Amino acid sequence: MTSLPDRKNAAISRGVGMTTQIYAERAENAEIWDKEGNRYIDFASGIAVVNTGHRHPKVIAAVKAQLDRFTHTCHQVVPYENYVHLAERLNALAPGKFAKKTIFVTTGAEAVENAVKIARAATGRQAIVAFGGGFHGRTFMGMALTGKVVPYKVGFGAMPGDVFHAPFPIELHGVTVEQSLAALKKLFAADVDPARVAAIILEPVQGEGGFYPAPTAFMRALREICDQHGILLIADEVQTGFARTGKLFAMEHHDVAADLMTMAKSLAGGFPLAAVTGRAEIMDAPGPGGLGGTYGGNPIGIAAAHAVLDVIEEEKLCERANQLGNRLKQRLAAIREKAPEIADIRGPGFMNAVEFNDATTNLPSAEFANKVRLIALDKGLILLTCGVHGNVIRFLAPITIQDGVFAEALDILEASILKARG
Ligand SMILES: Cc1ncc(COP(=O)(O)O)c(C=O)c1O
Repeated sequence: MTSLPDRKNAAISRGVGMTTQIYAERAENAEIWDKEGNRYIDFASGIAVVNTGHRHPKVIAAVKAQLDRFTHTCHQVVPYENYVHLAERLNALAPGKFAKKTIFVTTGAEAVENAVKIARAATGRQAIVAFGGGFHGRTFMGMALTGKVVPYKVGFGAMPGDVFHAPFPIELHGVTVEQSLAALKKLFAADVDPARVAAIILEPVQGEGGFYPAPTAFMRALREICDQHGILLIADEVQTGFARTGKLFAMEHHDVAADLMTMAKSLAGGFPLAAVTGRAEIMDAPGPGGLGGTYGGNPIGIAAAHAVLDVIEEEKLCERANQLGNRLKQRLAAIREKAPEIADIRGPGFMNAVEFNDATTNLPSAEFANKVRLIALDKGLILLTCGVHGNVIRFLAPITIQDGVFAEALDILEASILKARG
């Protein structure tokens, strides 16, 4: 009989990359079992989607109850109350002491597309500034905004115009906040008139780009620059949202409010739902029918999201994220004594990463990071790499992970890093 990987290769485009060959059979909180009955600890959470764990009982109960009522009417045709209520909740929870409105869509990339549409409609301007290393999705505008060519933009032709990139401040890689701001100033002098810029978009902690937090001084300076030039600030919280960084939203770390915020991933605990929340008058700029989509705000996703917000509050997941992140970072600091390849340990809350350099050359080592990932996988721990150089391992375990399972994962992580040293 043909093996599943062979069937997959024959049936599915290679464009959909895969980092493991584990075919999921069942999942519960932070554990996944494959078809052969092997058990894995999940430190990927389906790329930051199940902050509340796989199949959280409250999320599943909410979804089952919704399944028994109705599954799809399209909110643009026959609306439903829990869509309105979820918008009310997000408007109240999103940072910023001003009136807000929300729209629901289905994926993170779609949220980004809509944030750009809204920003252009509200300002009457065209240009968008994003940052090197940033990731905003695989649609055309998402690709254009993304600050990494391979694999995201290769072979896909011309990107939408009027998108500019500035360097993201990463001191570890020699770019200070001052240098980054100076580059932005130069961009405005050399490439694009700031009076033509509709929005500056950034992730409060770069996700795919390597888990680099934007320094507070940078975020505050961006807010000032935006206010000075009438530019909107868009916070892409698709990966940072929903307690991952120890706050419900990462922007809360900076005491800076964005004009528009994108959300997806852990918003609905495993069901496809995304949102854009922002200043009411900006959100109202597009005319009726300009925003939306057939599946946007699907009732199942909406029901799940209500349960996710309840769980985050009831189980104090922001506090828990900070506790787990501290334990992880302490353990990595101890491992660093024995592994000079560890160049950096970072990240707010439980949005943590470890960066590896070659011990001899001190250059980024994607090879070492990948070796650790594969050894860990072999030992039953699913890890994800990231970063422009591919030399970062990011940790995205469910914030609901049980203490015992977490301790087990930390032991596997240590053993894997030490074994990768040879
Ligand atoms: C910050 C950020 N924005 C946008 C996206 C795109 O989201 P999706 O894959 O749901 O389209 C991602 C996905 O990783 C992301 O991390």
